[in-house]
Amino acid sequence: MRKNRGVKSKAAMSAGIAMLALATSGTAQAQDTTITPSDIAAAHARAVASVRSMQPAERTVMTHGIMAMQLSPDSPPPPPEAVPGAGYVAGLPRLGLPALTESDASLGVAWIGGLRHDGATALPSGLAQAASWNPDVLYAGGRMIGGEARAKGFNVLLSGGVNLTRDPRNGRTFEYLAEDPLLAGTLVGAAIRGVQSNHIISTIKHFALNGQETGRKFVDIRIGEAAARESDLLAFQIGIEKGQPLSVMCAYNIVNGAHACDNDWLLNTVLKKDWGWKGFVMSDWGAVPSLDTAIHGLDQQSGVQLDPKVFFGAELAEKAKADKVWSARLDDMNTRVITAIYAAGLDKHPVSPGGKIDMAADAAVAEDAAKQGIVLLKNEGAILPLAAHAQRIAVIGGLANLGMLSGGGSSQVAGEGGPLAKVSVGVDSPFAAFFSQAYNGSAPLAAIRKLAPQATVTFRGGDNLADAVNQAKKADVAIVFATKWASEGLDQADLTLPDGQDALIAAVAAANPHTIVVLETGNPVAMPWLGNVPAVLEAWYPGARGGEAIASVLMGQTNPSGRLPITFPASVSQLPRPVLDGYADLEPDFMGNPPTPNAKLSANYDVEGSDVGYRWYARTGAKPLFPFGYGLSYTSFAEDGLKVDGLKASFTLHNTGTREGADVAQLYLVSRNGAAKQRLVGFARVNLAPGASQSVDLSIDPRLLADWTPSGWRIAGGDYSFALGTDAQHLGPAVSTRLTGKSWKD
Ligand code: BGC
Repeated sequence: MRKNRGVKSKAAMSAGIAMLALATSGTAQAQDTTITPSDIAAAHARAVASVRSMQPAERTVMTHGIMAMQLSPDSPPPPPEAVPGAGYVAGLPRLGLPALTESDASLGVAWIGGLRHDGATALPSGLAQAASWNPDVLYAGGRMIGGEARAKGFNVLLSGGVNLTRDPRNGRTFEYLAEDPLLAGTLVGAAIRGVQSNHIISTIKHFALNGQETGRKFVDIRIGEAAARESDLLAFQIGIEKGQPLSVMCAYNIVNGAHACDNDWLLNTVLKKDWGWKGFVMSDWGAVPSLDTAIHGLDQQSGVQLDPKVFFGAELAEKAKADKVWSARLDDMNTRVITAIYAAGLDKHPVSPGGKIDMAADAAVAEDAAKQGIVLLKNEGAILPLAAHAQRIAVIGGLANLGMLSGGGSSQVAGEGGPLAKVSVGVDSPFAAFFSQAYNGSAPLAAIRKLAPQATVTFRGGDNLADAVNQAKKADVAIVFATKWASEGLDQADLTLPDGQDALIAAVAAANPHTIVVLETGNPVAMPWLGNVPAVLEAWYPGARGGEAIASVLMGQTNPSGRLPITFPASVSQLPRPVLDGYADLEPDFMGNPPTPNAKLSANYDVEGSDVGYRWYARTGAKPLFPFGYGLSYTSFAEDGLKVDGLKASFTLHNTGTREGADVAQLYLVSRNGAAKQRLVGFARVNLAPGASQSVDLSIDPRLLADWTPSGWRIAGGDYSFALGTDAQHLGPAVSTRLTGKSWKD
């Protein structure tokens, strides 16, 4: 049992208050450890000594790696010790340094298009996990993935995607966590701690500002320093502080004119100097334009087959032999890689391919995450949970008889035996298998039937509109499952549900007033039929046990508690960039390469600056379809007694309803010296028994109140007002505190 930080139980109320139970994985894991900055400092000292004893031929062995797969029949196969996966970096056995065996792992140990035949447990998508607003969920997921990775022989996980969800059409939004730096950074930090608790290295990625997939390898993100430091970079900074990841993956895109993996400001100034981070920077796969990236802060070239050449091998060795600056840089690159190995304990706790995985226990972790992340968006007339006396339930659409949709690309996970069904989207590349619409996990239809044994539950695919309508007419309740696939490498044209599903929902809703819509989407979607249906659940891509989780919420065994970690716009016209840069002009290219060598594309993030997501809506006054932080419950809550004294806040939460449930308290800055400014400054998810109350204490990170200036963070002295919100647009009474002005460096 773990405690929510800052949440204290009132003695009189403590009986019956169910604190969050941490689901733990049953897969054999190394002993739980949290890596601290002092562990990293000690590892660094050892690494310096190891680098001193390196022989010349050893100096570039660990500075580059390959994709651990054979890309074509005539390319060389990877060495036998490379576990099929995203990457392999040879080790130095003479120095006791193991090879690095790397797998994608944001949502589970990745399936890599079926190259490795053993399946893994799929967690719900990043947004789904984040919708729990519960770091314990992310920790448990990371710990579970790390356990499975060890058993498959991986010791470096390319997990930890924390790019802010600046655009709801971004194809990778489903992999990421939130539009807010505090929420995203806190949650990714927990996931990283979970992964690294297994004595393996976790990565935080994609550093930085990788906000769209269109032209991802050449789009130049234009953004001022203050805006970057207060938004995307702050999410990374918080994630690094909380999670202590031992590697950072630099991104594909360009930032203010320099490729992220060749960006002296991002890598040397911000990450290594200002934040004092001691791990190693690995490139994204195919993101290294030149050897100079080493001088600009890149420590390891990944997946060299995808770059123009191996820059960090013989070429780097030659440079280091001839030039002292390069030699010192090469020592630093090695020191950083070896620091990570020692700090995680890769040398002392070798991974063991062929280890045993407790799939049932790990599935329970995935199910818990799905249950906590499903968001109830509408529940008119309390139609949900479904009454036990519903006799005829018509389930329609979304392949609900089969399984759950998952997002495409390198993060895709499949269970044992591979996906239940897979539809190719027609990509001509060695990576075609990565880009398919794959259904995994559990069928919600079976799960509904199991929980509603009294009912006759029928299923129709939804392609035949008349037949679906006919079924809906005959039923007490119709449940329409609607899906929208998203994938790495491909942004979405708009917010519309594809394949006529809006028309299907409208027709079913017209036939049966008790129509419930369950959305399986990676991104926010538009809901033109919203006024005509009484209930909507956002189930995201809910992972290996999504069917059970959805059924449990529908039937009321689980009280929904998810809150949106991303704003659902009313239309794309509300976005800072109503037209996604490059989308209309570029041919879809999953790799995001420029169509011609000199092709240029840029995106101006200074439109919104650090006012990403809900902050943009606060600034423009636009009303979204559903705001950030929004989500309903089967019980009701009240929040009161807000006091803020300096950087300390306290308040009380009450469950005013009749059943147990979890509330997510959200504390927002609303103004500084009378000028409106909205920022989430704290949150706490608390389980409450009916009638119970609980007091919550929060500490406010001063960076969330500050502005970034050319000399660092600065808080202007004066009055700061705060309010509790049930979401970013529904705020309670504001209270103020007086702060003295201060400035500080990172
Ligand atoms: C993705 C990374 C991933 C890498 C290795 C790249 O295409 O951007 O997120 O870790 O591939 O699979």
